[in-house]
Amino acid sequence: MIDRETVDKILDAAEIVDVVSDFVSLRRRGSNYVGLCPFHNEKTPSFSVSPSRNFCHCFGCGKGGSPVNFIMEHEQLSYVEALRYLANKYHIDIEERELTDEQKAARTDRESMLALNEFACHYFEEQLHDTNDGVEIGLAYFRDRGFSDATIRKFHLGYSPERSTAFYQAAIKAGYNRKYLLEVGLCIDDKRDGGFDRFRGRVMFPVYNVAGKVIAFGGRTLKKDPAKYFNSPESLIYVKNRELYGLYQAKRAIVKEDKCFLVEGYTDVISMHQAGIENVVASSGTSLTQGQIAQIHRFTSNVTVLYDGDSAGIHASLRGIDMLLAEGLNIKVLLLPDGEDPDSFARKHNASQFTQFIAENESDFISFKMKILLDQSSGDPVKRAAAIGDVVKSIAVIPDAITRSVYAKQCSVQLDIAEDVLLKEINKYIKRNKDEQYKQRQREQARQQRLENDRQSSESQPSQQDEHEDSLPQSSGEIASTAGVNQFLYPHERIMAHYIAKFGFCFWGDTYFDNGEKRPTSLIENVYFELNADNMTFSIQRFARIFEEGLKLVDAFYEDLQKETERINDIARKKFDEATRQIDSATLTLREIEKKEGEIKNRIELESRNELSTWRQRYLEKRLCSHPDDELRATALELVSEKYQLSKIHTQFAVIPTEQERLSTLIPEALYNWKNAIVKCQIIDAQSRLAHAKGAEAAQILTKLQQLYETSRELAKLIGERVVNPK
Ligand code: CTP
Ligand code: MN
Repeated sequence: MIDRETVDKILDAAEIVDVVSDFVSLRRRGSNYVGLCPFHNEKTPSFSVSPSRNFCHCFGCGKGGSPVNFIMEHEQLSYVEALRYLANKYHIDIEERELTDEQKAARTDRESMLALNEFACHYFEEQLHDTNDGVEIGLAYFRDRGFSDATIRKFHLGYSPERSTAFYQAAIKAGYNRKYLLEVGLCIDDKRDGGFDRFRGRVMFPVYNVAGKVIAFGGRTLKKDPAKYFNSPESLIYVKNRELYGLYQAKRAIVKEDKCFLVEGYTDVISMHQAGIENVVASSGTSLTQGQIAQIHRFTSNVTVLYDGDSAGIHASLRGIDMLLAEGLNIKVLLLPDGEDPDSFARKHNASQFTQFIAENESDFISFKMKILLDQSSGDPVKRAAAIGDVVKSIAVIPDAITRSVYAKQCSVQLDIAEDVLLKEINKYIKRNKDEQYKQRQREQARQQRLENDRQSSESQPSQQDEHEDSLPQSSGEIASTAGVNQFLYPHERIMAHYIAKFGFCFWGDTYFDNGEKRPTSLIENVYFELNADNMTFSIQRFARIFEEGLKLVDAFYEDLQKETERINDIARKKFDEATRQIDSATLTLREIEKKEGEIKNRIELESRNELSTWRQRYLEKRLCSHPDDELRATALELVSEKYQLSKIHTQFAVIPTEQERLSTLIPEALYNWKNAIVKCQIIDAQSRLAHAKGAEAAQILTKLQQLYETSRELAKLIGERVVNPK
């Protein structure tokens, strides 16, 4: 965790133009900048960057947002990783908080191990390029395989010398801890000398995690050795089934192409890169795992699996693919010509040939599987039935119903089996899968419950309720509880949420409190008082959360306001001193000097006020739009980029004020409209109940209705809207 002040510091420092410029070349257009969108392929720029709003947005694909959003999207980092990236860019030291001693120890272990791998990576690279053996043995091997020098550098390939303690000694000499050398598996414990090198005499392939840290190595032998590759063992920093080779180098291309090629080996990835196809990752010879799939799914839903032409491994890997289907990925398959693997094929063809081959030969997975299985079972009805059953099973795991039915139809044609027979079979499997999932969930719940019980009994204090549960906002009276009515309130809540997100901490006015105290308050506090007074709250959870998050920041805001005010006053004083010094040197009368000083003072005060007001306006927007919660951040972005904003228009006749300048009328208006909508809902509700009520109950409802009409009329008067007289 990064503490709040540091997060604020980072958000304050990150200027959108500056951040985006590291990746996109921008041209000025009016008060904004434009460039080619880095998130989709385009020829004319539709990516717009607004320095005043500290935002970017692509009018083509809709991506963009705050500096944090941009970095998350572009570098495919998590929220915290993006903050770290920005902190690094702006040289802000990160203060960590709330780490237990254990976590701190684990972190330093982790960092030490990553640092060691980084060192090792450099070492092996240096050996490859700058030593005789490295060049003659390692580099010669890579070149012989057709890797260009640029490719070798790009993947930081290296060479581990033949002498069995060469790296061990170099690392110890450089101050690295023996313990970590053994733990990351670069060296193997040698009871006498300390350790010897796991990878001696091999060419080295560093494995990066998605954030670009070296977490493991693969070392390929250059001799006739049955163990072609040695790989780092699992460790604190390397959980094998979560990693994919090449993902770090591929992620940007994967997002851009919205597609990922899946191959088997290190060399396949590298050769395809060299051939110009960069959206490729390798499972490194093992069958795919759930964790690896999740990694791919972060970047795209479209995966094409490349198979060697000899089809030896095809059958085994067919099974793994069901997992991809079950995750909702769209799977295609590309069978390479006989005897070719992606590596050899990429070396024989250039990018456009390869791309063309893909386009012509890629087929969807289900048809592929159908073909393979049916080919194998030709003529044997029992085998054929089993093969069909197998295909049906694959279709049944696809989560999307439409996709399933498309495949069912296609199968029915290709296999010449009635569609409804297939559908029945598919549904049988779906039911079986669901039952299985249900049982699994129950088991999981039971397990969680046991854990929870254990926790409670081991704690002396009662455990705290999970705050996320049940924190749904209270509905506005009885009405909002029905789903249809929510829709009725939606526009009102939405616009209020928009004002809050965009102007929440703008100065509103002095508020008198019951205890006689008077103090200046912000817009969000006033909305809070107003809603409370009428017992109202947001019924739509997305908007309620914006409001809640804003309220949580009130205390912090006033603390920060104090600091910001002091800072601005300081600057104002300096400016004033500077300006008055210049007057002093001129030859003016005392009165003239006083007049000049007065003017300067007014100007500087105005500037300060404007600066503080801009700061207040951006306070909440900035925090919400960079919030760690994905949904909240998305809602905030949506709300603040809304087109309610009337920009200042200077016509021949008048200056139309901005939304911000009109807030003092807009907010009460929005509140009245909202209340009115609630009352109208209540009227509709009462009317419908009246239709079925009799006797005393009917009378009661009538009285209630009269009150509601009255309230509605009063509100309408306030809004200045004509009353539609209810019958
Ligand atoms: N692999 C491994 N250990 C082995 C063999 C293979 O870890 N003994 C993994 C490696 O990640 C390798 C992948 O499985 O990249 C695919 O194996 P293979 O196709 O045999 O290796 P290539 O990478 O193609 O290597 P080369 O072309 O040099 O034979
Ligand atoms: Mn190979």
